[in-house]
Amino acid sequence: MSYNLLKGKKGIIFGALDEKSIAWRTALHCHEEGAQLVLSNAPVALRMGEINKLAETVNAPVVGADVTNMDDLKKLFEQSMTHFNGGVDFVLHSIGMSLNVRKGKSYTELDYGFNQKTLDISSMSLHRVLRTAWDMDALNEWGSVVALTFIAAQRVFPDYSEMADAKALLESVSRSFGYHYGIRKKVRVNTISQSPTRTTAGSGVKGFDGFISYAEHMSPLGNASGDQCANYCVALFSDLTRMVTMQNLFHDGGFSTTGVTEAVVKQMEK
Ligand SMILES: NC(=O)c1ccc[n+]([C@@H]2O[C@H](COP(=O)([O-])OP(=O)(O)OC[C@H]3O[C@@H](n4cnc5c(N)ncnc54)[C@H](O)[C@@H]3O)[C@@H](O)[C@H]2O)c1
Repeated sequence: MSYNLLKGKKGIIFGALDEKSIAWRTALHCHEEGAQLVLSNAPVALRMGEINKLAETVNAPVVGADVTNMDDLKKLFEQSMTHFNGGVDFVLHSIGMSLNVRKGKSYTELDYGFNQKTLDISSMSLHRVLRTAWDMDALNEWGSVVALTFIAAQRVFPDYSEMADAKALLESVSRSFGYHYGIRKKVRVNTISQSPTRTTAGSGVKGFDGFISYAEHMSPLGNASGDQCANYCVALFSDLTRMVTMQNLFHDGGFSTTGVTEAVVKQMEK
């Protein structure tokens, strides 16, 4: 069901790899709500070709950009503004990558070269995106920027490894840049802390199956799905949330404030 919440709005969506991606689900929901979109992902991801299916469905151009490359980002914003014939109203940063997790290096034996790359792709990329928009004055007044994060930024989830530090930095960048962009142009910047979700990035974490089931049993409402996360993104891009900024917003069925549930206690008694 559409409420036309994003009628007339224009947005850039980073990170739709395949139909499970949170960015993919969000692009579909934004389109349904009347937004015009530009889709972006790393050139290597575009080579998979999947994104073209999404592009056709939501009638959006695809512009490749490695988020660690300032020239790519500048070109992306230039092309987007030409396509939209004006500024950008919202941006979804749905990007994450841990080189150490990928290479099987545990938290106590991090490779610092990989670690720098992880932080650049997963965290400082939000700064790079906001800085590019800032320098080009690309975001419209009352624009909205959302990045996706995970509760491992606040609490220890051992197998999440260096991504916990990456998410803590991402949330900090969101607050810090949110301050400056709020003052300059009433642009809001927030992070959504999402339940574990079966996607390519999510499933890369060791023990993911056990963890997703644990989170399901530890959340009074159960885990939030990718489509439900997409709806929350739509709400944050809409004019109904204009005064929400510099927040880390939990979208996790109550997981973050639950100590224990009967379901988990019963399991422990077995
Ligand atoms: N899946 C979960 O359990 C979960 C939970 C909370 C938060 N998140 C976060 O949600 C976001 C989206 O992940 P997802 O779960 O949809 O997985 P996904 O694998 O579908 O998306 C990750 C995206 O990051 C992109 N990416 C990686 N390196 C890049 C680069 N250098 N330049 C541009 N793009 C690059 C990938 O191509 C991919 O599209 C991530 O920030 C992730 O950490 C996921």
